[in-house]
Amino acid sequence: MTYTLTTPLYYVNDKPHLGSAYTTLACDALARFQRLRGEEVVFITGCDEHGQKIQRTAEAAGLTPQAHCDGVSAQYRELWDRWQISNNRLIRTTDPRHRQIVEQFFARVEANGDIVEGRQQGWYCVACEEFKDDPHEAQDPECPTHRKPLEWRDELNLFFRLSRYQQQIEDLIARPGFIQPTSRRNEVENFVRQGLRDFSISRVNLPWGIPVPGHDGHTFYVWFDALLGYITALLEEGDSPDLDTALSRGWPASVHVIGKDILRFHAVYWPAMLLSAGLPLPAKVFGHGFLTREGQKMGKSLGNVLDPAALLERCGRDAVRWYLLRDIPFGEDGDFQQQRFTDLVNNDLANTIGNLLNRTSSMARRWFDNAVPPVTTAKRLDHPLAQAASQARFSALAALEQLEFRTAAESTLQLAIAANGFLNDQAPWSRMKQEGNQEQVANDLYAVLEAARIVALLMAPLLPDLSTRMLEQLAQPLPDSSAAATGPSDWLQQLEWGGLSEGLLLPEPSPVMARLELEDPL
Ligand code: MSP
Repeated sequence: MTYTLTTPLYYVNDKPHLGSAYTTLACDALARFQRLRGEEVVFITGCDEHGQKIQRTAEAAGLTPQAHCDGVSAQYRELWDRWQISNNRLIRTTDPRHRQIVEQFFARVEANGDIVEGRQQGWYCVACEEFKDDPHEAQDPECPTHRKPLEWRDELNLFFRLSRYQQQIEDLIARPGFIQPTSRRNEVENFVRQGLRDFSISRVNLPWGIPVPGHDGHTFYVWFDALLGYITALLEEGDSPDLDTALSRGWPASVHVIGKDILRFHAVYWPAMLLSAGLPLPAKVFGHGFLTREGQKMGKSLGNVLDPAALLERCGRDAVRWYLLRDIPFGEDGDFQQQRFTDLVNNDLANTIGNLLNRTSSMARRWFDNAVPPVTTAKRLDHPLAQAASQARFSALAALEQLEFRTAAESTLQLAIAANGFLNDQAPWSRMKQEGNQEQVANDLYAVLEAARIVALLMAPLLPDLSTRMLEQLAQPLPDSSAAATGPSDWLQQLEWGGLSEGLLLPEPSPVMARLELEDPL
């Protein structure tokens, strides 16, 4: 079975920000992990390009909406390339094939009697592209998220009969594991319990959208079209734009990874739309938390938005990935703090992991002919580091399966910490000074190098670059977690204790992780 995972399809009203990079990096770690353990992965990301927000942004910039979308989506593509995101697809909802998928899907929903005409009255937030249920202020209400005035709408629209799916949606969200983390389930449950109301899926007087077939003057509401982007994205090059063909390429999704603000669309509206069209439902919706910066919401008006391209330029891929995945429990809100960022990168990656490898391989080269030392006992599974490695492996794999990136990172780090502790206790540099200790030192160095090899392998989904540099220092083959990787993997096998070959020549040591020295604020 294919493992299909998705990021949200990002609005192209503005250039990418750290929030979008966060979801994409986490999904990249998950996609790499699933490939490494042998799954056939379709990793989907993309851009959501229709709707009023985009139309207005383009107008303000004096561009046609299409020209505007072409420009911003190119920035996304470039950013993901620079981050070496291993996505297999990058869907744009202005792709002509997408329009056909939307039309075919709509035909099924309409044939099922789920489209009715109705009058839509309410307060609308263009930045959210969403009607707000109950604005607090009676006069001049504002969007609580965007702090921008809501706009009153009164239109004849087409509605999707969400109310018909009350029971099925209740059953779905009660299903263990459908909404994760479980702490997020309550808010969806409360919303559903209030009774699902039909929602409008078309707009009039909004040219920048996909026309609704058979309903002149209507274009699809941007969310109706955008969610279907997950299905269009499955089409392979050369496939005809046919709904069933797309579905056969990896539907249903194994997981939609999203921010908590768009949970309702993914856990309620989207499953109901799929039920209406008679299609299978995604297995899981994971809503992660929001990032703030030094305790403040990031926003243009505060001028404190972290630009993921600039961050990459100054700090490198490994540092940023490590901080975001290792420090913030995935699912909870997190705060980006520059001091903590540098501390964690320098302590964990440069000191604990980098120095471990560097000093051990230097000693091995110096005393054992530039090679991995011969062993008598260190390959035994009751060796303390073998046990630490087995624990780290067990806990990291289980955590990655559950999208608990922080636990996976910590377990990996724990193994490096254990190896450093072992090295300091054994102190091979003192032992070597006395005669007759050669065998003991050989075993000790072997065990530490072997632990470093396993650390490097466990890092492959989290920090693929650092993993590669470490494995190169250990003259090891590289497991393939790239977008193209398919078929059975030997990664799980390689994670077993004792895989390092004695006598293997080790290359000249060079630091695998530079320290991060940030004098100015980012
Ligand atoms: N276009 C819709 C998604 C359609 S999916 C079919 C959309 N796009 S978005 O660009 O506005 O948001 C994309 C994601 O970025 C959302 O999941 C949102 O939660 C996330 N984030 C936006 N700001 C964020 C932070 N400050 N921190 C973490 N994630 C944030 O919604």
